Amino acid sequence: MNPSSPSAVLNELLAQRHSCRAFLTDPVPREVQERLLQMAQRTASWCNSQPWQVHITEGAATERLRDALQTTPQQGESGADFPWPREYRGVYQERRRECGFALYDSVGIARGDREASARQGQENFRLFGAPHVAIITSDDALEVYGAIDCGAYVSNFLLAATSLGVATIPQAALASRSQALRKFFGLGDDRRVVCGISFGYADVGHPANAFRTSRAEVSAAAAWIAT
Ligand SMILES: Cc1cc2nc3c(=O)[nH]c(=O)nc-3n(C[C@H](O)[C@H](O)[C@H](O)COP(=O)(O)O)c2cc1C
Repeated sequence: MNPSSPSAVLNELLAQRHSCRAFLTDPVPREVQERLLQMAQRTASWCNSQPWQVHITEGAATERLRDALQTTPQQGESGADFPWPREYRGVYQERRRECGFALYDSVGIARGDREASARQGQENFRLFGAPHVAIITSDDALEVYGAIDCGAYVSNFLLAATSLGVATIPQAALASRSQALRKFFGLGDDRRVVCGISFGYADVGHPANAFRTSRAEVSAAAAWIAT
């Protein structure tokens, strides 16, 4: 395949992108962030409604938000604007455990060490040390369809960031503290928090960034029906 063909370039970006769980403190220049947002803005949405809104922190604001998130009492799933998954069944639970264990193995957390895994979980609210977080919200009345469009936006945000050398991690964990986010950003009742995306430059030598997740074969997800 010609390495500069559109397909090869996209394939390479998809292969390169991964969730970054340790960042350097260096900020992402504003013009790079603007390019990223311009690319993500091309996301397709139902009736072209483009329901996403993005609040991005930098500098002292990121530090203030990090503090606010870490001092907010844990609310779990009841703190989220969209209902949490009812259950992870069968293969979904297996995949979930597999990626959790890969992270724990990478950072040296023994199976069953609840204290250490809770500490690692808390890293979400420290934004994994990132210099920026983008909080993605949708319109309340669009309900699940707004969330679908925002999910597509998140995906394009991640790929656009990868193309610019910017590391990212989407974080549903942040949606569990939506009250703190609402207060911090002054969000109205018409907005629902979908998730956050912490971003910056990867601390490539950090053990939390040393593993990669796998994917099931296409045949596990897709089927052709011809007759
Ligand atoms: C919508 C969404 C929310 C996520 N929330 C979290 C999160 O709160 N904390 C976390 O560590 N990872 C989170 N992840 C990252 C996933 O665990 C990760 O995408 C998955 O394991 C696949 O790994 P990869 O992104 O490295 O390819 C989230 C991913 C998505 C798409």
